[in-house]
Amino acid sequence: MKVAVQMTAYVQNPTFGSELLTQRTLNSPSPPRGEGEFITNIFISESVDSMKYPCNKTGLLYCVYGFISHNLSMKIAPFKVEDWMNEYEKYSKYDLGNTTVQTLSVDELFELTGENKQQFFNNLFKQKLGYGHIKGLPAFKEGVKNLYNTVEPDNIIPTIGAAGANHLVFYSLVEPADRVISVIPTYQQLYSIPESFGADVQYLRLTPENRFLPDLKELKTLVNKKTKLICINNPNNPTGALISGKMLEEIIEIAKSVNAYILSDEVYRGLNIAEEYTPSVADLYEKGISVCSMSKIFSLAGLRLGWIACKDREFIEKCISHREYNMISCSLLDENIAALALKHYDKIIERNKTAIKQCAALLDNWVKQQKHISYVKPYAGTTALLYYDFDMTSKELCDRLAKEKGVFLTPGFCFETEHCFRVGYCKNPEMLKQGLEKISDFIQESEKVK
Ligand SMILES: Cc1ncc(COP(=O)(O)O)c(C=O)c1O
Repeated sequence: MKVAVQMTAYVQNPTFGSELLTQRTLNSPSPPRGEGEFITNIFISESVDSMKYPCNKTGLLYCVYGFISHNLSMKIAPFKVEDWMNEYEKYSKYDLGNTTVQTLSVDELFELTGENKQQFFNNLFKQKLGYGHIKGLPAFKEGVKNLYNTVEPDNIIPTIGAAGANHLVFYSLVEPADRVISVIPTYQQLYSIPESFGADVQYLRLTPENRFLPDLKELKTLVNKKTKLICINNPNNPTGALISGKMLEEIIEIAKSVNAYILSDEVYRGLNIAEEYTPSVADLYEKGISVCSMSKIFSLAGLRLGWIACKDREFIEKCISHREYNMISCSLLDENIAALALKHYDKIIERNKTAIKQCAALLDNWVKQQKHISYVKPYAGTTALLYYDFDMTSKELCDRLAKEKGVFLTPGFCFETEHCFRVGYCKNPEMLKQGLEKISDFIQESEKVK
């Protein structure tokens, strides 16, 4: 039997980061492996014009076995941003690394909402700690429903954070050799998880020249009939870019042309600097999947509660079935507190938007005074990507700023991008001011040394 075989290995070099995030097509069972490189993905397709590789069935199986056994211990790429945060958070005298507006304590939540704490906990503590509602506490799902215009509670699935939601989407949908298109830079889950499931992941790079908005002409060239999912992150972490309703409609048209789903990670939805309405993809498109959580919008990351919202029944059923294998249900205590917070969405979002606007103005003021720093002004979310013009890797810069000045930032390489760093600028205005001053000091001192 003759078959055409394409084996593709995504090779990533952690030392050089994004520039070297490459895709190599290989036709041998022994892939080249340079120092520090690892292979994150393999897939085989049956018809590739550029390379007809004749072999028999046994040969083919041998090749596949060779690839898989070679890479068994490297099933998923390291999660760079989370690894960095875990290692460097300890240096954060000035925390410009985290991406939440100052998180709320339970006491603060009750103060802000004006709810009766005693009564709430008296009722909660009487409840038996069984599995609760397997498909989610009705009051929680009702609260989530109110964040959308057209989504019903049955189409909402509670998860362990948005991290759990993103994972569940890929786990339920993606099969080897499916095409998945993801914007980059973004939260690494959106491309590394589908890669680990054997998808043919294509990157849609967001650039400062395009104000970090997707280039739709390029997106059209990337979709094909095997496209299962287009992944966006709106508003975007790390850049703070916001895709408008109009542009979202255009992306939906492209997805419809190949019958693809759109996964929109919307954990920062509504945290806008300007008074702008941000539609959810789940309201605009039957196959639009909205992922969101209590972490950023509500400043309640410690609840570890998120959700998937989508009107496509077939997809929801798949998620419910897969979810039984890795979580069964969410925590009943978390869901009750989240339901209370959701009832007071208006008050909490107002608190957080006020903080974001104040901090965005401080950041903008600082950037304007810097000779060596530039950025595309963020529109939404809690982060911005700042570029610098001196010769230092983002890793060295952020490492030194942490250790020498106590400023905790996130280097661009965690987002496959160089000569820039992410600022989580909304935690605390006073700390932001002090942290930015420390960055100015560092740049001035480095100039003197030169
Ligand atoms: C874009 C994005 N998606 C998902 C997550 C994970 O959020 P959660 O805390 O809800 O799991 C984060 C966390 O920083 C994020 O920035």
